[in-house]
Amino acid sequence: MPTGECIDGPPELITTDRFQGQNVLITGAAQGIGQAVAHRIAYENGSLFLVDRSELVHEVAAELAEITGGTVGSATADLETWEGAEAMVAAGVEKLGSLDTVINNVGGTIWAKPFEHYAPEEIEKEIRRSLFTTLWSVRAELPALIDSGGGTIVNVSSVATRGVNRVPYAAAKGGVNALVSALALEAAEKGVRVVATAPGGTLAPARKVQRGPGPEGEQEKEWYQQIVDQTIDSSLFKRYGTLAEQAAPIVFLASKEASYITGTVLPVAGGDQG
Ligand SMILES: NC(=O)c1ccc[n+]([C@@H]2O[C@H](COP(=O)([O-])OP(=O)(O)OC[C@H]3O[C@@H](n4cnc5c(N)ncnc54)[C@H](O)[C@@H]3O)[C@@H](O)[C@H]2O)c1
Repeated sequence: MPTGECIDGPPELITTDRFQGQNVLITGAAQGIGQAVAHRIAYENGSLFLVDRSELVHEVAAELAEITGGTVGSATADLETWEGAEAMVAAGVEKLGSLDTVINNVGGTIWAKPFEHYAPEEIEKEIRRSLFTTLWSVRAELPALIDSGGGTIVNVSSVATRGVNRVPYAAAKGGVNALVSALALEAAEKGVRVVATAPGGTLAPARKVQRGPGPEGEQEKEWYQQIVDQTIDSSLFKRYGTLAEQAAPIVFLASKEASYITGTVLPVAGGDQG
């Protein structure tokens, strides 16, 4: 698996105070893209409520509290359950007073193999990880956003909806894309925008929290390598993106600068449209 650098120090280009006075909830914020998004919004002075299944989220929150002028809170929750999503929103509203923007970032393929090799229980786990985390989160967040007089939902999808060796994950992210377009129709009149980015392959430091068992044996490593090769080949730039390149468009879509954009899934994959 190709790896990249940690997010550290101020982003190269920021819009200072773009998030001042904005209460932003981010899921899956303990590492990777979610952490990079939280980092950027901290530098743009937002208030943050960071959620993850891993306790590491509290360390990330403590670090960002030193950067932003806003309030920072954090909680652990299992977002594969309705109870986890409901508790997350209650805790976020209690800490920040209300929610303006939510960024649902939890997901990620657990296994990499041709579809005929997936066991039924593995397919269910992939859907729970990469579709239900977003479905439950959005269902729990929506009333809080409506109560605030409107707000923004940014989901993190994937261009792997057209990718090899991860059909269940692709199906889950296709569901996330459908949620964006269908909910945008209903929610517009309530002042809620619903959008997503669809990242391509992204370089990040080696994961502290693993998604699953990881490829074991020569065959599984080869199937994983096929994903890497297809990812590079279908990007017009012939490379992976960086965490900063994923965080910037998510944060733009989350900001008031994107006020006329809803129902859109933006591919962020060097020209791979997914
Ligand atoms: N990294 C990539 O190359 C890439 C490419 C395309 C799309 N994406 C998408 O971007 C998002 C972030 O990817 P990443 O690589 O940064 O993720 P990651 O696997 O590095 O981190 C995911 C975080 O979510 C947390 N998490 C997992 N299951 C959870 C649960 N049930 N409840 C609460 N928290 C849970 C983990 O603890 C972890 O901190 C995912 O939705 C992924 O599908 C990533």
